[in-house]
Amino acid sequence: MTHKILLTGGAGYIGAHTFVALQAAGFSPFIFDNFSNADKDTPERIASITGQTAPWVKGDLLDKTAIERVFADNDFDAVIHFAAKKSVADSVHRPLDYFENNCVGLINLLEVIEKYSVKTFVFSSSATVYGTPQRLPIPETATLSFANPYGFTKLVGEQMLAQISLAQPELTVGILRYFNPVGAHASGLLLQAPRGNAAPPENLMPRMLEVARGQNPYLTVYGDDYDTPDGTGLRDYIHITDLARGHVLSLQNLLQSGEGHTVNLGTGNGYSVLEMIECFKKVSQKDLTYRIVPRRAGDIASCYADVSLAFALLGFKAEFGLLEMCASSWNAAQM
Ligand SMILES: NC(=O)c1ccc[n+]([C@@H]2O[C@H](COP(=O)([O-])OP(=O)(O)OC[C@H]3O[C@@H](n4cnc5c(N)ncnc54)[C@H](O)[C@@H]3O)[C@@H](O)[C@H]2O)c1
Repeated sequence: MTHKILLTGGAGYIGAHTFVALQAAGFSPFIFDNFSNADKDTPERIASITGQTAPWVKGDLLDKTAIERVFADNDFDAVIHFAAKKSVADSVHRPLDYFENNCVGLINLLEVIEKYSVKTFVFSSSATVYGTPQRLPIPETATLSFANPYGFTKLVGEQMLAQISLAQPELTVGILRYFNPVGAHASGLLLQAPRGNAAPPENLMPRMLEVARGQNPYLTVYGDDYDTPDGTGLRDYIHITDLARGHVLSLQNLLQSGEGHTVNLGTGNGYSVLEMIECFKKVSQKDLTYRIVPRRAGDIASCYADVSLAFALLGFKAEFGLLEMCASSWNAAQM
Protein backbone atom coordinates (compact mmCIF):
# COMPACT_ATOMS: atom_id res chain seq x y z
CA MET A 1 0.00 0.00 0.00
CA THR A 2 1.33 3.47 -0.88
CA HIS A 3 1.58 5.72 2.14
CA LYS A 4 0.31 9.25 1.57
CA ILE A 5 2.54 11.81 3.28
CA LEU A 6 1.75 15.48 3.88
CA LEU A 7 4.79 17.74 3.59
CA THR A 8 4.18 21.13 5.18
CA GLY A 9 6.68 23.53 3.62
CA GLY A 10 7.13 20.89 0.93
CA ALA A 11 7.94 23.51 -1.74
CA GLY A 12 10.94 24.77 0.25
CA TYR A 13 14.57 23.73 -0.09
CA ILE A 14 14.59 20.62 2.11
CA GLY A 15 10.93 19.79 1.52
CA ALA A 16 11.25 19.71 -2.29
CA HIS A 17 14.35 17.50 -2.20
CA THR A 18 12.63 15.20 0.29
CA PHE A 19 9.56 15.05 -1.95
CA VAL A 20 11.73 13.67 -4.78
CA ALA A 21 13.35 11.11 -2.44
CA LEU A 22 9.98 10.00 -1.02
CA GLN A 23 8.44 9.50 -4.44
CA ALA A 24 11.47 7.48 -5.53
CA ALA A 25 11.04 5.32 -2.43
CA GLY A 26 7.39 4.56 -3.30
CA PHE A 27 5.64 7.06 -1.02
CA SER A 28 2.93 9.40 -2.20
CA PRO A 29 3.91 12.89 -0.99
CA PHE A 30 1.64 15.95 -1.01
CA ILE A 31 2.74 19.60 -0.55
CA PHE A 32 1.06 22.14 1.73
CA ASP A 33 2.90 25.47 1.49
CA ASN A 34 2.09 29.17 1.61
CA PHE A 35 4.96 29.83 -0.86
CA SER A 36 6.28 32.64 1.36
CA ASN A 37 9.79 31.30 0.76
CA ALA A 38 9.37 29.09 -2.29
CA ASP A 39 9.00 29.55 -6.02
CA LYS A 40 5.50 29.01 -7.38
CA ASP A 41 6.80 26.64 -10.03
CA THR A 42 8.50 24.27 -7.56
CA PRO A 43 5.83 21.53 -7.99
CA GLU A 44 6.39 21.68 -11.77
CA ARG A 45 10.14 21.47 -11.30
CA ILE A 46 9.72 18.45 -9.03
CA ALA A 47 7.45 16.82 -11.60
CA SER A 48 10.00 17.36 -14.35
CA ILE A 49 12.57 15.54 -12.22
CA THR A 50 10.40 12.61 -11.16
CA GLY A 51 8.21 12.26 -14.24
CA GLN A 52 5.21 12.04 -11.92
CA THR A 53 2.82 14.74 -10.76
CA ALA A 54 3.66 16.65 -7.61
CA PRO A 55 0.31 17.32 -5.91
CA TRP A 56 0.19 20.50 -3.88
CA VAL A 57 -2.11 23.00 -2.28
CA LYS A 58 -1.40 26.58 -1.29
CA GLY A 59 -2.20 27.12 2.38
CA ASP A 60 -0.93 28.71 5.55
CA LEU A 61 -0.45 26.94 8.88
CA LEU A 62 -1.83 30.01 10.61
CA ASP A 63 -5.13 29.32 8.83
CA LYS A 64 -6.59 26.30 10.61
CA THR A 65 -9.47 26.04 8.18
CA ALA A 66 -7.01 25.62 5.31
CA ILE A 67 -5.24 22.82 7.22
CA GLU A 68 -8.56 21.15 8.02
CA ARG A 69 -9.55 21.28 4.37
CA VAL A 70 -6.46 19.46 3.18
CA PHE A 71 -6.91 16.74 5.82
CA ALA A 72 -10.61 16.38 4.97
CA ASP A 73 -9.75 15.96 1.27
CA ASN A 74 -6.89 13.48 1.76
CA ASP A 75 -6.19 10.43 3.83
CA PHE A 76 -2.68 11.04 5.17
CA ASP A 77 -0.65 8.30 6.84
CA ALA A 78 2.02 10.68 8.10
CA VAL A 79 3.11 14.30 8.19
CA ILE A 80 6.60 15.73 7.74
CA HIS A 81 6.60 19.24 9.12
CA PHE A 82 9.16 21.43 7.36
CA ALA A 83 7.21 24.71 7.25
CA ALA A 84 8.90 27.37 9.33
CA LYS A 85 10.63 30.71 9.09
CA LYS A 86 14.35 30.03 9.38
CA SER A 87 16.42 33.21 9.40
CA VAL A 88 18.33 33.64 12.65
CA ALA A 89 19.02 37.35 12.02
CA ASP A 90 15.41 38.05 11.07
CA SER A 91 14.18 36.21 14.16
CA VAL A 92 16.26 38.49 16.39
CA HIS A 93 14.50 41.53 14.92
CA ARG A 94 11.01 40.04 14.69
CA PRO A 95 10.75 37.36 17.37
CA LEU A 96 6.94 37.46 17.56
CA ASP A 97 6.65 36.59 13.88
CA TYR A 98 8.78 33.52 14.54
CA PHE A 99 6.86 32.50 17.65
CA GLU A 100 3.60 32.87 15.74
CA ASN A 101 4.63 31.19 12.50
CA ASN A 102 6.72 28.38 13.94
CA CYS A 103 4.98 27.68 17.26
CA VAL A 104 1.33 28.62 16.59
CA GLY A 105 1.66 27.00 13.15
CA LEU A 106 2.82 23.78 14.81
CA ILE A 107 -0.01 23.88 17.36
CA ASN A 108 -2.63 24.37 14.64
CA LEU A 109 -1.19 21.47 12.68
CA LEU A 110 -1.07 19.17 15.70
CA GLU A 111 -4.69 19.95 16.58
CA VAL A 112 -5.82 18.91 13.11
CA ILE A 113 -3.55 15.84 13.16
CA GLU A 114 -5.21 14.73 16.41
CA LYS A 115 -8.69 15.31 14.96
CA TYR A 116 -7.89 13.22 11.87
CA SER A 117 -6.03 10.55 13.88
CA VAL A 118 -2.76 10.73 11.95
CA LYS A 119 -0.27 8.72 13.96
CA THR A 120 3.13 9.49 12.44
CA PHE A 121 4.87 12.84 12.56
CA VAL A 122 8.37 14.01 11.59
CA PHE A 123 9.66 17.37 12.84
CA SER A 124 12.41 19.44 11.18
CA SER A 125 14.67 20.40 14.04
CA SER A 126 18.18 21.74 13.98
CA ALA A 127 21.62 21.54 15.53
CA THR A 128 20.79 25.02 16.81
CA VAL A 129 19.08 23.30 19.78
CA TYR A 130 22.55 22.36 21.09
CA GLY A 131 23.46 26.06 21.59
CA THR A 132 27.20 26.18 22.35
CA PRO A 133 28.13 22.48 22.40
CA GLN A 134 29.79 21.17 25.54
CA ARG A 135 31.51 18.36 23.67
CA LEU A 136 32.25 17.21 20.14
CA PRO A 137 31.01 15.36 18.21
CA ILE A 138 27.58 16.27 19.62
CA PRO A 139 25.42 13.34 20.74
CA GLU A 140 21.62 13.60 20.85
CA THR A 141 21.83 13.42 24.66
CA ALA A 142 23.76 16.73 24.85
CA THR A 143 22.35 19.62 26.88
CA LEU A 144 19.84 21.65 24.90
CA SER A 145 19.60 25.42 24.78
CA PHE A 146 18.96 28.29 22.39
CA ALA A 147 20.75 31.47 21.40
CA ASN A 148 18.09 33.33 19.40
CA PRO A 149 14.30 33.36 18.81
CA TYR A 150 14.59 30.97 15.85
CA GLY A 151 16.47 28.42 17.98
CA PHE A 152 13.87 28.94 20.71
CA THR A 153 11.07 27.95 18.31
CA LYS A 154 12.89 24.71 17.39
CA LEU A 155 13.48 23.80 21.03
CA VAL A 156 9.89 24.66 22.00
CA GLY A 157 8.67 22.58 19.04
CA GLU A 158 10.66 19.57 20.24
CA GLN A 159 9.46 20.01 23.81
CA MET A 160 5.82 20.43 22.82
CA LEU A 161 6.08 17.20 20.84
CA ALA A 162 7.64 15.40 23.81
CA GLN A 163 4.71 16.43 26.04
CA ILE A 164 2.10 15.61 23.39
CA SER A 165 3.66 12.16 22.91
CA LEU A 166 3.13 11.50 26.62
CA ALA A 167 -0.53 12.49 26.37
CA GLN A 168 -1.06 10.66 23.05
CA PRO A 169 1.13 7.52 23.13
CA GLU A 170 -0.35 6.42 19.80
CA LEU A 171 1.42 9.37 18.10
CA THR A 172 4.88 8.35 16.87
CA VAL A 173 7.25 11.29 16.53
CA GLY A 174 10.57 11.51 14.71
CA ILE A 175 12.70 14.53 15.54
CA LEU A 176 15.44 15.15 13.01
CA ARG A 177 18.20 17.56 14.02
CA TYR A 178 19.76 18.78 10.79
CA PHE A 179 23.29 20.10 10.79
CA ASN A 180 24.17 22.33 7.79
CA PRO A 181 22.33 21.28 4.62
CA VAL A 182 23.98 22.40 1.38
CA GLY A 183 24.06 21.25 -2.23
CA ALA A 184 21.30 20.61 -4.73
CA HIS A 185 19.61 17.88 -6.71
CA ALA A 186 21.76 16.73 -9.65
CA SER A 187 19.25 18.24 -12.11
CA GLY A 188 19.98 21.70 -10.70
CA LEU A 189 16.23 22.39 -10.81
CA LEU A 190 15.54 22.75 -7.10
CA LEU A 191 16.63 26.10 -5.76
CA GLN A 192 17.68 26.94 -2.25
CA ALA A 193 15.72 30.22 -2.11
CA PRO A 194 13.14 31.83 -4.37
CA ARG A 195 14.51 33.86 -7.22
CA GLY A 196 14.40 37.53 -6.33
CA ASN A 197 14.52 36.83 -2.59
CA ALA A 198 15.68 40.16 -1.19
CA ALA A 199 16.97 38.85 2.15
CA PRO A 200 20.77 38.71 2.26
CA PRO A 201 21.93 35.10 2.71
CA GLU A 202 23.38 34.22 6.11
CA ASN A 203 24.98 30.89 5.32
CA LEU A 204 28.35 30.27 3.73
CA MET A 205 27.26 28.44 0.56
CA PRO A 206 24.74 31.04 -0.69
CA ARG A 207 27.25 33.78 0.12
CA MET A 208 29.96 31.97 -1.88
CA LEU A 209 27.54 31.60 -4.79
CA GLU A 210 26.87 35.34 -4.76
CA VAL A 211 30.58 36.10 -5.03
CA ALA A 212 31.13 33.46 -7.73
CA ARG A 213 28.27 34.97 -9.78
CA GLY A 214 29.70 38.48 -9.40
CA GLN A 215 26.81 39.69 -7.22
CA ASN A 216 29.25 40.54 -4.45
CA PRO A 217 32.90 41.56 -4.83
CA TYR A 218 34.18 39.47 -1.94
CA LEU A 219 33.25 37.02 0.77
CA THR A 220 33.45 37.91 4.44
CA VAL A 221 35.00 35.31 6.73
CA TYR A 222 34.05 35.95 10.33
CA GLY A 223 37.06 35.16 12.53
CA ASP A 224 40.27 33.20 11.96
CA ASP A 225 41.27 32.96 15.61
CA TYR A 226 39.00 30.12 16.73
CA ASP A 227 40.49 27.07 18.40
CA THR A 228 40.29 25.02 15.19
CA PRO A 229 43.05 23.71 12.85
CA ASP A 230 42.99 26.75 10.54
CA GLY A 231 41.34 29.20 12.96
CA THR A 232 38.03 29.43 11.05
CA GLY A 233 34.75 27.90 12.23
CA LEU A 234 34.04 24.20 11.71
CA ARG A 235 30.60 23.07 10.61
CA ASP A 236 29.05 19.74 9.70
CA TYR A 237 27.82 20.36 6.14
CA ILE A 238 25.50 17.65 4.81
CA HIS A 239 24.51 17.17 1.17
CA ILE A 240 20.80 17.83 0.66
CA THR A 241 20.42 14.49 -1.14
CA ASP A 242 21.75 12.68 1.93
CA LEU A 243 19.50 14.75 4.18
CA ALA A 244 16.45 13.95 2.03
CA ARG A 245 17.28 10.23 2.24
CA GLY A 246 17.47 10.59 6.03
CA HIS A 247 13.78 11.58 6.01
CA VAL A 248 12.83 8.49 4.01
CA LEU A 249 14.68 6.25 6.48
CA SER A 250 13.16 8.05 9.46
CA LEU A 251 9.66 7.70 8.06
CA GLN A 252 10.13 4.03 7.20
CA ASN A 253 11.43 3.38 10.70
CA LEU A 254 8.54 5.22 12.39
CA LEU A 255 5.91 3.46 10.28
CA GLN A 256 7.44 0.02 10.82
CA SER A 257 8.45 0.23 14.47
CA GLY A 258 5.80 2.54 15.91
CA GLU A 259 8.62 3.89 18.11
CA GLY A 260 9.66 7.55 18.09
CA HIS A 261 13.23 8.78 17.74
CA THR A 262 15.40 11.88 17.94
CA VAL A 263 18.44 11.75 15.68
CA ASN A 264 21.17 13.97 14.31
CA LEU A 265 21.45 14.15 10.53
CA GLY A 266 24.98 15.20 9.59
CA THR A 267 28.14 13.67 8.20
CA GLY A 268 30.00 13.63 11.50
CA ASN A 269 32.80 15.73 9.94
CA GLY A 270 33.67 19.31 10.75
CA TYR A 271 34.68 21.27 7.64
CA SER A 272 36.30 24.69 8.10
CA VAL A 273 35.23 27.85 6.29
CA LEU A 274 38.57 27.95 4.47
CA GLU A 275 38.30 24.27 3.44
CA MET A 276 34.88 25.00 2.03
CA ILE A 277 36.12 28.06 0.12
CA GLU A 278 39.08 26.12 -1.33
CA CYS A 279 36.82 23.29 -2.44
CA PHE A 280 34.34 25.68 -4.00
CA LYS A 281 37.12 27.50 -5.87
CA LYS A 282 38.26 24.18 -7.29
CA VAL A 283 34.85 23.08 -8.60
CA SER A 284 33.74 26.50 -9.86
CA GLN A 285 37.11 27.55 -11.30
CA LYS A 286 36.33 30.96 -9.79
CA ASP A 287 38.76 33.05 -7.81
CA LEU A 288 36.75 33.65 -4.67
CA THR A 289 38.12 36.75 -2.97
CA TYR A 290 37.56 36.80 0.76
CA ARG A 291 38.29 39.14 3.65
CA ILE A 292 38.76 38.04 7.21
CA VAL A 293 36.96 40.20 9.76
CA PRO A 294 36.46 39.76 13.54
CA ARG A 295 34.21 36.98 14.81
CA ARG A 296 30.45 37.45 14.39
CA ALA A 297 28.42 37.70 17.62
CA GLY A 298 26.68 34.43 18.43
CA ASP A 299 28.90 32.22 16.23
CA ILE A 300 30.53 29.18 17.79
CA ALA A 301 33.92 27.64 16.96
CA SER A 302 32.91 24.10 16.05
CA CYS A 303 29.74 22.12 15.57
CA TYR A 304 29.57 18.59 14.20
CA ALA A 305 27.34 15.64 14.83
CA ASP A 306 27.77 12.33 16.52
CA VAL A 307 26.13 10.28 13.79
CA SER A 308 26.28 6.88 15.48
CA LEU A 309 22.62 6.84 16.58
CA ALA A 310 21.36 7.73 13.09
CA PHE A 311 23.35 4.77 11.76
CA ALA A 312 22.36 2.33 14.52
CA LEU A 313 18.67 3.24 14.43
CA LEU A 314 18.01 4.17 10.80
CA GLY A 315 21.03 2.76 8.95
CA PHE A 316 21.72 6.34 7.89
CA LYS A 317 25.20 7.30 6.74
CA ALA A 318 26.00 10.34 4.59
CA GLU A 319 27.39 9.33 1.20
CA PHE A 320 28.48 12.65 -0.27
CA GLY A 321 31.45 14.81 0.67
CA LEU A 322 32.41 18.43 0.29
CA LEU A 323 33.25 18.11 -3.40
CA GLU A 324 29.75 16.93 -4.34
CA MET A 325 28.18 19.54 -2.08
CA CYS A 326 30.08 22.39 -3.77
CA ALA A 327 29.75 21.00 -7.31
CA SER A 328 25.98 20.45 -7.08
CA SER A 329 25.41 23.91 -5.57
CA TRP A 330 27.44 25.55 -8.33
CA ASN A 331 25.61 23.52 -10.98
CA ALA A 332 22.19 24.60 -9.63
CA ALA A 333 23.29 28.22 -9.32
CA GLN A 334 24.15 28.32 -13.02
CA MET A 335 20.75 27.00 -14.21
N1 LIG B 1 18.14 24.98 5.75
C1 LIG B 1 18.75 24.84 6.89
O1 LIG B 1 19.94 25.21 7.02
C2 LIG B 1 18.06 24.21 8.07
C3 LIG B 1 18.82 23.73 9.15
C4 LIG B 1 18.16 23.15 10.23
C5 LIG B 1 16.77 23.08 10.26
N2 LIG B 1 16.05 23.58 9.21
C6 LIG B 1 14.59 23.51 9.27
O2 LIG B 1 14.15 22.73 8.17
C7 LIG B 1 12.85 23.18 7.73
C8 LIG B 1 12.90 23.44 6.24
O3 LIG B 1 13.94 24.37 5.97
P1 LIG B 1 14.29 24.86 4.50
O4 LIG B 1 15.73 25.19 4.48
O5 LIG B 1 13.71 23.94 3.52
O6 LIG B 1 13.47 26.23 4.50
P2 LIG B 1 12.61 26.88 3.32
O7 LIG B 1 12.32 28.27 3.72
O8 LIG B 1 13.27 26.65 2.01
O9 LIG B 1 11.28 25.99 3.38
C9 LIG B 1 10.25 26.24 4.30
C10 LIG B 1 8.95 26.26 3.53
O10 LIG B 1 7.88 26.49 4.45
C11 LIG B 1 6.97 27.41 3.87
N3 LIG B 1 6.27 28.05 5.01
C12 LIG B 1 6.80 28.85 5.96
N4 LIG B 1 5.86 29.21 6.83
C13 LIG B 1 4.70 28.63 6.42
C14 LIG B 1 3.37 28.64 6.92
N5 LIG B 1 3.01 29.35 7.99
N6 LIG B 1 2.44 27.91 6.27
C15 LIG B 1 2.77 27.18 5.15
N7 LIG B 1 4.01 27.15 4.64
C16 LIG B 1 4.96 27.87 5.27
C17 LIG B 1 7.82 28.33 3.01
O11 LIG B 1 7.10 28.94 1.95
C18 LIG B 1 8.89 27.37 2.48
O12 LIG B 1 8.51 26.79 1.24
C19 LIG B 1 12.54 24.40 8.58
O13 LIG B 1 11.70 24.00 9.64
C20 LIG B 1 13.89 24.85 9.10
O14 LIG B 1 13.77 25.51 10.33
C21 LIG B 1 16.66 24.14 8.11
